[in-house]
Amino acid sequence: MTDIIVAPSILSADFANMGKAADDVKKWGGDWLHCDVMDGVFVPNITFGMPMVKALNDYTEMTLDVHLMITEPEKYVGKFCDAGADYVTFHVDASKDVSAALDIIKNKGKKCGLVLNPDKPLSLVEPYIDKIDMLLIMSVYAGFGGQKFIAESIEKLKDAKKLIGNRDILLEIDGGVGEDNAKEIIAAGADVLVAGSSVFGSKNPAKTVSILKGI
Ligand code: DX5
Ligand code: ZN
Repeated sequence: MTDIIVAPSILSADFANMGKAADDVKKWGGDWLHCDVMDGVFVPNITFGMPMVKALNDYTEMTLDVHLMITEPEKYVGKFCDAGADYVTFHVDASKDVSAALDIIKNKGKKCGLVLNPDKPLSLVEPYIDKIDMLLIMSVYAGFGGQKFIAESIEKLKDAKKLIGNRDILLEIDGGVGEDNAKEIIAAGADVLVAGSSVFGSKNPAKTVSILKGI
């Protein structure tokens, strides 16, 4: 038994078969579906928006972990909650009113979280630490799947764990997570491991998911 949550990212799935991706993730033992929303402005890539989240929510019972890589998230977080997101996270530096955006999510009865790119210090989230349900540490620069894990993220995870202390906040890591570094990531304190290419590109995804869970 393990408490580690594995959240495969559908960014690495077949976009013409998202229902199958959700079924596969469940079959492989994944816990959540990680949904990467990119607007082409905050990051140089565009993926999908609320309609995809709604379609997945209509299709599957799985927890939807929506990672917003968009500017002015305060304008959209409510819409993603309405679409069926269970967790909504956004980059702290993307919002002009972080507190208001977190409040919108909370008032919708959903879980809220903040995200830090590799060059963004933990001090940026400290003022909001008592408002969030999850802290997402990026171990690659947000924008694309299949990038290499940035080794310094391990120390950042340890520092984030210290900052969280005994608060009820999940620590999530995203980017370049795979069979080779899962142990070290879990030892550094991560609770939620996002993994795109390592799961969807695996010859044996169920085995990969169990390795990511530390089993
Ligand atoms: C990157 C996304 C990640 C991405 C991870 O901007 O936030 O969730 O899908 O992909 P891998 O696991 O392939 O690095
Ligand atoms: Zn992500």
